[in-house]
Amino acid sequence: MKFKKKILCIGAGYVGAPSNVMIACKCPDYKVTVVDINPQRIDAWNSDNLPVYEPGLDEIVKKTRGKNLFFSKDIDNQIKENDIIFVCVNTPTKTFGAGAGMAADLQYWEKTARQILENSKSSKIVIEKSTLPIKTALAMERILASGKGDITFDVLSNPEFMAEGTAINDLENPDRVLIGSRETPNGLAARAQLVEIYSRWVSPEKIITSNIWSAELSKLVANAFLAQRVSSINSISALCEKADADISEVARAVGMDSRIGSKFLKAGIGFGGSCFKKDILNLVYLCHFYGLPQVAAYWESVVKINEYQQERFIANILQSMFNTLAEKKICVLGFAFKADTGDTRESPAINITRMLLAEHAEVVISDPKALGNAAMDLADDEGKISYIEDPYQATAGCHALAIMTDWDLYRKLDYRKIYKSMIKPAFIFDGRNIIDQHKCFEIGFNVFPIGKPALTRL
Ligand code: NAD
Ligand code: UGA
Repeated sequence: MKFKKKILCIGAGYVGAPSNVMIACKCPDYKVTVVDINPQRIDAWNSDNLPVYEPGLDEIVKKTRGKNLFFSKDIDNQIKENDIIFVCVNTPTKTFGAGAGMAADLQYWEKTARQILENSKSSKIVIEKSTLPIKTALAMERILASGKGDITFDVLSNPEFMAEGTAINDLENPDRVLIGSRETPNGLAARAQLVEIYSRWVSPEKIITSNIWSAELSKLVANAFLAQRVSSINSISALCEKADADISEVARAVGMDSRIGSKFLKAGIGFGGSCFKKDILNLVYLCHFYGLPQVAAYWESVVKINEYQQERFIANILQSMFNTLAEKKICVLGFAFKADTGDTRESPAINITRMLLAEHAEVVISDPKALGNAAMDLADDEGKISYIEDPYQATAGCHALAIMTDWDLYRKLDYRKIYKSMIKPAFIFDGRNIIDQHKCFEIGFNVFPIGKPALTRL
């Protein structure tokens, strides 16, 4: 079959693969190839056991793979063959040198730029889909322009706003698609090509265009605003606990103001995921770089409140359980950073588990999708840790359970049965406020919610 367009995605991770799977699904006349330097990842994408758990993803991959969707290890040849290239490699926080712990580590990004340059025999459109510091496109342009010959490269910024767990719906029905370009004739022509791809399934008023720096910055700012809402409500949850107010009632009353809105106002043990912290720190670094320390401090406080929320949670467990956790068995219910994903990157459950281990507690970890990642995260940690998927087996014989992930499954558990199998007095620390807390109290548990008065007989 002769394809109308050939699209390459470099980086087969949580963003690159699902977003390009969606293009393949919506554009059957385009050939979409996804490559990665990690050969095991590509093997997994070509198998029945996909490397990313995302509701609805399996079905679309099965429908398109081998028809117009391909996963390949041959990066060099694929660069030669494709003229539209999405770059979706990881951009973690730098762990060394200048800006360590804050700036984005752009080594994977730069390697990709050089690889594109070395292997290109024709002009290309190169699209930043990874989240990057403002002005990265300029660096990309400079690397790509350093080659000899008359082929040209147009760099676009097309940040991705999907969230894990809802990626398929977010990709299929995005709030907006943002495309930033240079406002030159070539830049505008490249922009038009990308608009054409998205127009296959996204309505025109949702495809917005901008200058390239605005697009890069908008992505960091969107994540910073979302995380800021979580930290705002979490900071108020601390006040609620002191003042006998109920954070759910406060969030409802505040969120019903249409100027504020009700989303992202769920108090909990704090935000996790690979991006919020990394992107805010990246923003903080940029503010320092541009000589704006007050702005940097403002955004950094969002991350500090997130850490404070986790410290508060563990201090509450310790204090409520008579100031000692040594030799007590505690079940961590949920290890993924949110429901409907197996991803544990920056999951609050990692810190909480480490704090429990530091108190010499015995920790049982349960999760329907994330136990493999949990075991990798804690591989170097010392202490008594076990991994049990079945929540009833995991909680049996425990002194307390700490709910870390808002899996729907945990709302529906038979807590009467769980109570019977636990050591008394039994405790629930509901880090997501998802269970029927009053019912659990009636069953006999001592219940410690977030941002609400504790329900306890002690
Ligand atoms: P990821 O770690 O899951 O995937 C990145 C992939 O890139 C890995 O498989 C890695 O092997 C591959 N890679 C790295 N260097 C490469 C190279 N030189 N050539 C080929 N492959 C290479 O990361 P992710 O979660 O998909 O995030 C990717 C980017 O997208 C980040 O910048 C992130 O901030 C951004 N983002 C992520 C999400 C999300 O929900 N995870 C959402 C929006 C944006
Ligand atoms: C987030 C953004 O929502 C996406 O738009 C963005 O594309 C993505 O980051 C990214 O750049 O990586 P994601 O991290 O997958 O998506 O998930 P979210 O739903 O945003 O949740 C992030 C964290 O905040 C989770 O730990 C979640 O439990 C927590 N959260 C969220 C709360 O504690 N309360 C809330 O009200 C909402």
